[in-house]
Amino acid sequence: MKKILFVASEAVPFIKTGGLADVAGSLPKCFDKEYYDVRVMIPKYMCMKQEWRDQLNYVNHFYMDYLGQSRYVGILQYEYEGITYYFIDNEWYFNGDRPYGDWLFDIEKFAFFCNAALSALPVIGFQPDVVHCHDWQTGLIPVYLKDRFRGGEFFQNMKSVITIHNLKFQGVWDVKTIQYLTGLSDYYFTPDKLEAYKNGNLLKGGIVFADAITTVSDTYAEEIKVPFYGEGLDGLMRARSNSLRGIVNGIDYDEFNPATDTFIEKNYSAENFRKEKIKNKRALQKELGLEENDKLMMIGVVSRLTDQKGFDLIQYVMDELCQDAVQLVVLGTGEERYENMFRHFAWKYPGRVSANIYYSNPLSHKIYAACDAFLMPSLFEPCGLSQLMSLRYGTLPIVRETGGLKDTVEPYNEFEGTGTGFSFANYNAHEMLDTIRYAEKIYYDKKRDWNKIVDRAMAKDFSWNASALKYQELYDWLIG
Ligand code: GLC
Repeated sequence: MKKILFVASEAVPFIKTGGLADVAGSLPKCFDKEYYDVRVMIPKYMCMKQEWRDQLNYVNHFYMDYLGQSRYVGILQYEYEGITYYFIDNEWYFNGDRPYGDWLFDIEKFAFFCNAALSALPVIGFQPDVVHCHDWQTGLIPVYLKDRFRGGEFFQNMKSVITIHNLKFQGVWDVKTIQYLTGLSDYYFTPDKLEAYKNGNLLKGGIVFADAITTVSDTYAEEIKVPFYGEGLDGLMRARSNSLRGIVNGIDYDEFNPATDTFIEKNYSAENFRKEKIKNKRALQKELGLEENDKLMMIGVVSRLTDQKGFDLIQYVMDELCQDAVQLVVLGTGEERYENMFRHFAWKYPGRVSANIYYSNPLSHKIYAACDAFLMPSLFEPCGLSQLMSLRYGTLPIVRETGGLKDTVEPYNEFEGTGTGFSFANYNAHEMLDTIRYAEKIYYDKKRDWNKIVDRAMAKDFSWNASALKYQELYDWLIG
């Protein structure tokens, strides 16, 4: 049995701020259980729903020296869908109403978490062959495995993988502070290790010291080797390109299944969407107070409202777009300027624009089921999961050709009768608008062709099956 430990800062269903949580929570159960024992470790946040917190079982605790103090590390455990989850408890670090808040405190919090996660392993008697880390929050683990945890037999052969879900967030502060918080010696603070542009950088540590690096699509794996997408680390990505590969994300095909989804008004499948899908649109128009009109093309947006997602483009042409026969349904929270932008347009175009500035899992499912198209004009997109959910629900993605969007959405070609969505290349608002209008044209004037695109979209397989095999190959190769 090969033993794998996922260490992450979030995982569904326990805690989620973004796509990382979907991956950390849905990938582990897709490995071949006969050969792989995959477990997951996350912090026990105070802001986790009470119903989850109440169910966790206490396993053990110990005290760990960190920043000159002896600190409590509790370990709790919970079995969920056949996977063992461990939760690291410390009320000082994992308090607050959100998993992340203040940058500096977050860096200290996750430096503590990385130390605690590795220290907890001998205590629970789980000795992974591979520790699979995710994003900057766990970037110190590959470093510690080659440093302070290297001596003893327990950690000697432990390998590490780091998956980059988003290169933009790196965990950066001045060298002196990072050195203090990590307890690492001067040796580590040179430009070939944790130092980057005179600062300390936790993600960089992970990328330098991990035995393998992955990111969540092939295109993003290439993109981050150039300055535009490299976030200052493109040189490092080029230097480590032999150890870097892209493995595209999947989604949970049981959770996201229009034929069985209990959140949606009317279930449907690839066989009967032509008749049944529309019932979801009707229900959502009613629920959100939109104009109740079967004919209007409904476009969905479910997203963290950050500049990564291309909202500047939408803002720029929103008035023009709203002259067309379309409805726009938005769900998500994030930067205030985008929250207010959508609130403004919902006020300006009642019946046409619905701005739902909060997060709701049930509403997200309803949007995937109800809409005709799904808009995702990202500036960069390591993988993107919503377009996969949209494809699954026969809701055609309109995307910019970057990262995982480029790898998973095949643009419609009216001459060959191929494609599963619509796409444009440049980060340009009118290029996006032209693409949306092209989609409108197909939707209104060539409904049969539109429905054939839906056929192809729903026939695609973006479950975890193929990608889980690729991770297994990678683990096998590392374990040797
Ligand atoms: C981050 C990325 C997104 C990716 C997700 C899961 O949220 O921005 O593109 O799909 O991580 O890997």
